[in-house]
Amino acid sequence: MNKRKIIIDCDPGIDDSLAIMLALTSPEIEVLGITIVCGNSPVEMGFENAKKILKQMNRLDVPVYMGEPRPLKRDYVNALDTHGADGLGESFLPEVPGYQQEIGAVDFLSKALIKEKVSVIALGPMTNLARLIQKAPAAFNQIEELVSMGGSFKSHGNCSPVAEYNYWCDPDAAALVYDTLHQNGKMIHMIGLDVTRKIVLTPTLLEYICRLNKETGEFIRKITKFYFDFHWKWEHIIGCVINDPLAVAYFLNPDICQGFDSYVQIETGGITLGQSVVDSMNFYRKTPNTKVLTEVDVYAFFQLFLSRILGLEPEKLDILQDLI
Ligand code: BDR
Ligand code: CA
Repeated sequence: MNKRKIIIDCDPGIDDSLAIMLALTSPEIEVLGITIVCGNSPVEMGFENAKKILKQMNRLDVPVYMGEPRPLKRDYVNALDTHGADGLGESFLPEVPGYQQEIGAVDFLSKALIKEKVSVIALGPMTNLARLIQKAPAAFNQIEELVSMGGSFKSHGNCSPVAEYNYWCDPDAAALVYDTLHQNGKMIHMIGLDVTRKIVLTPTLLEYICRLNKETGEFIRKITKFYFDFHWKWEHIIGCVINDPLAVAYFLNPDICQGFDSYVQIETGGITLGQSVVDSMNFYRKTPNTKVLTEVDVYAFFQLFLSRILGLEPEKLDILQDLI
């Protein structure tokens, strides 16, 4: 099989970890590396967490690269209130020693993109990608497909009334990425809160995962417990929204989400800081730089996600439809 090559740029992070699990268990893609950016957790913690997930998946062969420690211009605000003091739901998994990389995330991205056809799935603030634009614009322009979990069209924000965390954390980086894509005539796939809010891992689904595979299920239970509590406290949801795996699932099967092409710009100041302004009515008469995803087939997502991480044929998930 001709595998598509990807780099996962992320800030693990509970849902980033679930996304990494999905990517590593999907035979049609090859994960060339994982680049870490400051976001949910400080970059050093994200680096350690990526190794912990790779260890769990028995995939310490996948290289991890440390990226930017702070946003381009703003002060850095982490999301440990959402992801726990260790960034992995206070699971306090054992450290995985060693494993330093000689180059940083931006250099790795630059080398990989110049060498071969590579897509990037961005699951955190886009600071690494913005630095890539500044340092090696030709490499950025080579990205085969860019999928970003971030932003929102009509759904309310999760950091302000209008802003989603990844774009709010580093709005200048997100703005540079979107503006550059527009200048280059390229597109980004925006998997925003409109679609990810519909992806809720419920206690019933978690129980189902545990019944099918105790080890994987208990691991997910351990890293998501804090996330469940957070969602109950702040959003009155029983379960947790797992944003990031949807970006990977969409990359694997674009039919999982539907949307439209539009010009999008990211706000970098004022009370709308970090907002993704989607010109769905074409007021600005600008060529689209974004596929804005607004609809999601929740069943298709969970069928793909569970079958992959559990190593089962999709047909084996016979009662899944009743649990969604
Ligand atoms: C995004 O922010 C982070 O908390 C999650 O990992 C996800 O990437 C959702 O707003
Ligand atoms: Ca993330």
